[in-house]
Amino acid sequence: MKTALIILAAGKGTRMNSDLPKVLHPIAGEPMLIHALEAGALLEPERSVVVAGHGADMVRDATLAYDMAIKVVEQSEQLGTAHAVAQARDALSGFDGTALVLYGDTPFIRPETLEAMQTALSANDVVVLGFESADPARYGRLVMDGQQLDRIVEYKDASDDERTITLCNSGVVACNSDLLFDLIDAVDNNNASEEYYLTDIVGLARARGLSATAVTCDEWETMGINSRSELARAEAEFQSRARAALLEDGVTLTSPETVFLARDTVIGRDTLVEPNVVFGPGVTVESGATIRAFSHLEGCHVSRGSVIGPYARLRPGAELAEHVRIGNFVEVKNAQIAEGAKVNHLSYIGDATIGAAANIGAGTITCNYDGVMKHQTQIGAGAFIGSNTMLVAPVSVGAGAMTGSGSVITSDVEPEALALARAPQVEKPGMARKMFEMLKAKKAKQQRGS
Ligand code: UD1
Ligand code: CA
Repeated sequence: MKTALIILAAGKGTRMNSDLPKVLHPIAGEPMLIHALEAGALLEPERSVVVAGHGADMVRDATLAYDMAIKVVEQSEQLGTAHAVAQARDALSGFDGTALVLYGDTPFIRPETLEAMQTALSANDVVVLGFESADPARYGRLVMDGQQLDRIVEYKDASDDERTITLCNSGVVACNSDLLFDLIDAVDNNNASEEYYLTDIVGLARARGLSATAVTCDEWETMGINSRSELARAEAEFQSRARAALLEDGVTLTSPETVFLARDTVIGRDTLVEPNVVFGPGVTVESGATIRAFSHLEGCHVSRGSVIGPYARLRPGAELAEHVRIGNFVEVKNAQIAEGAKVNHLSYIGDATIGAAANIGAGTITCNYDGVMKHQTQIGAGAFIGSNTMLVAPVSVGAGAMTGSGSVITSDVEPEALALARAPQVEKPGMARKMFEMLKAKKAKQQRGS
């Protein structure tokens, strides 16, 4: 069965009090819109359409950065959810299959839930995602008739009796694409909000003798975000679920509540993560690694048996092979570090390759930026870089070579050579004692004078 996604993302999100469109506010390091797209992506949709409105340019940029193939259409006036879906009609012309309506501000719907909706669609014309709510507040209510969904009534339009229903509408709908647009054509705005309600398609379908039903999910999956405090709650909810999933998968988190994960964080079994570690987007850590306290990782890969931190920073493009050691106050960016290499203290390694078992001394810096362009540093296998070496890129140090501490290396070093690039030491016997005497005499004179 072919699927198309329609993601509604035109709303203003007034309560966010923000210049950024609501759907672009991040949860776990990524815009909530991307979470919604990712949930839908697991259905391998043939087409996806994002309906943008407020901040449409920013929404378009973020969508295309995620996937160039997604169509972004604009709903310039927000006349209701049915009107929003209608904007996707042209983008779906010629498409024959299921249309699934999702929401850019509802990031937690599980792919399994969407699959259950698809299954229910084989025996029904319209499938709506509902949930039992302890506090149904102002949600639309699902009016059931046995297994059939009779209609959806919005809170504003509901009778007192209907308001006692606890089965609520999530907004997510699945329906054959042609039928969906056909039903939407019949939706009017004769209701309390004077909006074109997508929810009306259920009653319209039933009036035509078609069938409709509801699939239910956990309330948290349907959590919509309308304010910064809801955003903070959604983040907390995401984090506690992601931590629990890692623990379940055999990862040790010494202090789970202090570890922050991204949507796509992958950590292998028997890895240990100490307290206060932050994972940004795009991190994979293999089995049996140790991420020590107060480290920050994003866009990087850590292989089996490596030890990172405490207080390490791995930035995008850091690729660490097995049994690498990255110690305290070390920053690594866009660098491949081969097996068993060590960068243990106070270093910056950027735009570099470091060979197997090389040792990078404390305070070493790859000077990769000349103020305009970035340049590469290459360090061969088994090289020993003396403490406080400045490697002025582009530069290479051959396999098994050494640099003297404090060297400023500006030209390539041959394999197995020792490079020294620092001022020679000068020694003046007795001079220190004379200096002390002179300085002490000066100070005594000053104190007598004052
Ligand atoms: C909607 C449902 C309600 C359900 C609730 C779940 C309708 C009529 N009601 O109500 O039954 O319980 O969601 O949260 O569908 N949007 C557009 N363009 C528009 C209008 C809305 O893109 O013209 C987008 C909004 O940005 C938002 C979503 O659609 O992401 C839902 O719209 P909203 O106005 O919040 O609907 P609710 O009143 O919450
Ligand atoms: Ca809403």
